Amino acid sequence: MSSSEPIKLAMVGCGGIARSHLKGYIEIKRREPELFKFVAMCDTVRERAEGFAREASSVQDEPISIYTELEEMLKNEAVDAVDICTPHGLHHIHAIQCMEAGAHVLLEKPVGITIKAAKAVIEASKRFGRIAATAEQCFRSLPARTAKWAICEVGLIGEPRLFYAQQISWSPPPQEWNAPKWHWRVDRYLGGGGLVFDSGVHFIHTMRVLFGEIESVFAQVKQLQKRPHNKDGQIVYDFREDTWMAILNFSSGMNGFWSYTSAAPGHQFTHVVYYGSDGALIDSGDAFHGPFSGALIHRVDGRVRRLSELQNEFLQSLSEEQRMCLFPHGITEPFTIECYDFLDAIRSGRQPEVDAEDGMRDEAVSIAIYESAATGSAVKIQDVIDGNVECYQADINAHWGL
Ligand SMILES: NC(=O)c1ccc[n+]([C@@H]2O[C@H](COP(=O)([O-])OP(=O)(O)OC[C@H]3O[C@@H](n4cnc5c(N)ncnc54)[C@H](O)[C@@H]3O)[C@@H](O)[C@H]2O)c1
Repeated sequence: MSSSEPIKLAMVGCGGIARSHLKGYIEIKRREPELFKFVAMCDTVRERAEGFAREASSVQDEPISIYTELEEMLKNEAVDAVDICTPHGLHHIHAIQCMEAGAHVLLEKPVGITIKAAKAVIEASKRFGRIAATAEQCFRSLPARTAKWAICEVGLIGEPRLFYAQQISWSPPPQEWNAPKWHWRVDRYLGGGGLVFDSGVHFIHTMRVLFGEIESVFAQVKQLQKRPHNKDGQIVYDFREDTWMAILNFSSGMNGFWSYTSAAPGHQFTHVVYYGSDGALIDSGDAFHGPFSGALIHRVDGRVRRLSELQNEFLQSLSEEQRMCLFPHGITEPFTIECYDFLDAIRSGRQPEVDAEDGMRDEAVSIAIYESAATGSAVKIQDVIDGNVECYQADINAHWGL
């Protein structure tokens, strides 16, 4: 690929979240038509790949090929970049195949189903000299970037001290006769974990952006409610946790309590507050994807600031160059920013905002929570990264030959 040619992009896994990526790329194509072109869509379910190709054709005339197998696609197409939105257990396999074929990859979170899987992606990225970017969008939203500015640069809550992020609800289990259809997330070897891992890595990433590295965790993780699924007429039970309580200890000395359950009937509430020496940021949404624009900052001097009002101040504080970097072409939709970052990193030969190493550090905290519950001890994140603790992951690693 010469630097003036459009990047040849393919998408693998044309399911739920890939639709948000596709919308992002379509928006980018409208704004910078020469930056990239779609060359192929791949999904084991052919109609999904065809549907994506049809939508993408609204912004380009050149044909887009359809595949149901990644290997076939890589054999037939000269792709520069692949956006991978497949089940967790396949991430490392798909990413390594693509990089070996010479393509840069944007890989949906979590990077790998275990730390060994994530490390295999990082190793392949170095070996083949290709970018491995992690699709991690939550901290790229305007409210989240504003919260980072307010906390880390303006110091509106003072020195960060502690947080409580709790989300308590009741999701009644279905009866077996009414069980929902089986899905890959219900399979331990494809999903790897429940919400601690799945949406949890978003929360962990934002915590690392706002408050720095997490050093250790101590946690309880449980499944309090059995949930049936219907797999081709057979009932299989969900392996995933529905409840956890985790204490997160940061290198800075800060501590956080992160707890979730969907198995608590009778009283539900969500409470997400970050406390510092001079005030608190009170979030308005869930315990995974914030901070949201409705968040409030209450200060000890009695002043109350709304994150949505601070957004303008934040934007005005940015230079043109910073704006283009954080919100390219004025785009504030987080998935579109994430896709643009990937393409621009390829064009400029720079690292993406979140690479696979960073994504691995996020998932190491989620996995440490499982490891802590499995071993009954506090777990250091570095021990999880170094492979010294892999009680929870051992059978998943064995399954995938890692
Ligand atoms: N960033 C976010 O907010 C967010 C939200 C949801 C999901 N995700 C992530 O996106 C990824 C996909 O999740 P989803 O919810 O979109 O799942 P999904 O089941 O809706 O989509 C997965 C797609 O992959 C296809 N697929 C499966 N095996 C394949 C293979 N071998 N080759 C090609 N295609 C294959 C499936 O047919 C399906 O269309 C996961 O990593 C998940 O954690 C991220």
